Amino acid sequence: MILIAGGTGRLGRVLTGTLTRRGLPVRVLTRDPARAASLAGHGIEVVTGDVRDRASLPAAARGADVVVSAVHGLAGPGGVSPATVDYQGNINLIDSARDAGAEFVLVSVVGAAASSPMELVLIALCGCTASDVIGILRKKREPFTGLEVHARGERATEYPTVYREIHLTYRVRGPVSRKAMQDAVNLSKDKYCSVSAMLAKTAKITYNIEHAE
Ligand SMILES: NC(=O)c1ccc[n+]([C@@H]2O[C@H](COP(=O)([O-])OP(=O)(O)OC[C@H]3O[C@@H](n4cnc5c(N)ncnc54)[C@H](OP(=O)(O)O)[C@@H]3O)[C@@H](O)[C@H]2O)c1
Repeated sequence: MILIAGGTGRLGRVLTGTLTRRGLPVRVLTRDPARAASLAGHGIEVVTGDVRDRASLPAAARGADVVVSAVHGLAGPGGVSPATVDYQGNINLIDSARDAGAEFVLVSVVGAAASSPMELVLIALCGCTASDVIGILRKKREPFTGLEVHARGERATEYPTVYREIHLTYRVRGPVSRKAMQDAVNLSKDKYCSVSAMLAKTAKITYNIEHAE
């Protein structure tokens, strides 16, 4: 079961649609079930709660494998604010996810910037290889709790200034075996990652892995 706080919002509705089309069970947390009426029609469970009210969250998170936060308190009804929703509300939600034994995914715009087309290419590489590595670690039942992939690229000095060197840093959290992580990254690089395979036509791609327990 995937609990989506903010499932009635713009991003949350895209997410609920994508997950239900894949046949995954979804529950939406909302302050006002009327806003989720159209979702309930699609077999989505609706639960009433408010991230600012800790007591309303354990029932919503019960039985969830993943809790997604797609809420914000920048504007909207009900006297919300970044301090009460984005900060304290997310702390409440993280605590209830932890108590339910669920993974937590935070959707935010932290660090968002207007990326250039060539930066977007590196972002695509990070996203592509990260999803490979996550899939492989899951198949191997490795107990990872987080993965970040960062990329640094050097471009040619002459037009069309393609990437010549790219270095990837994989930061994995949780007691993951070093060999499993190394194998997963190599498989992504040498076999599965389409973006990597295309970029490797012009760039030497190197990587390092950092483990954080
Ligand atoms: N929209 C985008 O293109 C986009 C892109 C990247 C990132 N993001 C990020 O995604 C997140 C959601 O953005 P959005 O544009 O989808 O927002 P939105 O359409 O304004 O929806 C906000 C959601 O937050 C929920 N919410 C607000 N206060 C709440 C509270 N106290 N308790 C429980 N739920 C509460 C609302 O649920 P109810 O009203 O049903 O309670 C609603 O579903 C934000 O962090 C945003 O920065 C959005």
